[in-house]
Amino acid sequence: MNDVQAAISIRGVGKRYASGHSALRDVNLEIRKGEIFALLGPNGAGKTTLINIVCGIVTATEGRVFADGHDVARDYRAARSMIGLVPQELATDNFESVWDTVSFSRGLFGRAPCPRHIESVLADLSLTDKRNSRILTLSGGMKRRVMIAKALAHEPRILFLDEPTAGVDVELRRDMWALVRRLRDRGVTIILTTHYIEEAEEMADRIGVIDRGSLILVEDKVTLIEKLGKKQLIMQLCRPLPEPPPGLDDWGLELRAGGTELVFTYGNRPNIDLSALVRRLGELSIEFSDMRTHQSSLEEIFVGLVSRRT
Ligand SMILES: Nc1ncnc2c1ncn2[C@@H]1O[C@H](COP(=O)(O)OP(=O)(O)OP(=O)(O)O)[C@@H](O)[C@H]1O
Ligand SMILES: [Mg+2]
Repeated sequence: MNDVQAAISIRGVGKRYASGHSALRDVNLEIRKGEIFALLGPNGAGKTTLINIVCGIVTATEGRVFADGHDVARDYRAARSMIGLVPQELATDNFESVWDTVSFSRGLFGRAPCPRHIESVLADLSLTDKRNSRILTLSGGMKRRVMIAKALAHEPRILFLDEPTAGVDVELRRDMWALVRRLRDRGVTIILTTHYIEEAEEMADRIGVIDRGSLILVEDKVTLIEKLGKKQLIMQLCRPLPEPPPGLDDWGLELRAGGTELVFTYGNRPNIDLSALVRRLGELSIEFSDMRTHQSSLEEIFVGLVSRRT
């Protein structure tokens, strides 16, 4: 059975909330063991709904989901014990200490107490000196660390992070990235959602884009950037041009910045001969003082993908 290969297998999942709102439609997705998968999409696209279905918090109206081969609806306990979830919303008013909260989370999943593991989780999240603090006395960023510690308490093999770095400072964001990498190195499969596209660009092996309830794309990050990204050569002209130079029509050049920049967009066209372009410019006595290349970021690709559908 190929479920054995996939950490998570989502098959034909649809969700219609009681309000009648259709939040997901026919979502099919396999998350590979040991990968970092970033789920991107605008507000309200259905990311949290999908995560909550996989974690058994929301029931799918259609389709089935397997976590390491266990059906999340029919075999909830076995499936859920594999999974750690850091939810998007912070649960705040908590009078317990960090240590007790995190230890209790482990117990919830029927795992025997293991103070050594709890200690190492707290250390990983720089929470050791807060172990006796009550949660409600912590800052928002610290609370977020506690949420992650809770999710890791039962040593899950699959970790969902729903907007883990929303509203956290740069330092904490870097810490989280480092932690996610360490977890991946230990074989944990990680699925994260984020509105910081640079985060997905930095971390993810694969990217899924969800828009208005449909998964519109799943791709290797590198392939995605190569396939949909644009590459441009931008030349700074010594003398501004009033219009694109005749005699270069085949190249489809554009003028920008008031005629001071000549831009050649070549995407991923094979066998591009940039030196031929430079020679041709020389023949036409078009001089330039500087040149640079620009490769679209994942952010530009993402915005293009989602806006194209509106
Ligand atoms: N309990 C609910 N009842 C009715 N509609 C809901 C419920 N939860 C979510 N929705 C709706 O389902 C859609 C998807 O919501 P969801 O929270 O999954 O989006 P999201 O992609 O996580 O968005 P964000 O980026 O803002 O976190 C939205 O239109 C939302 O209003
Ligand atoms: Mg969400």
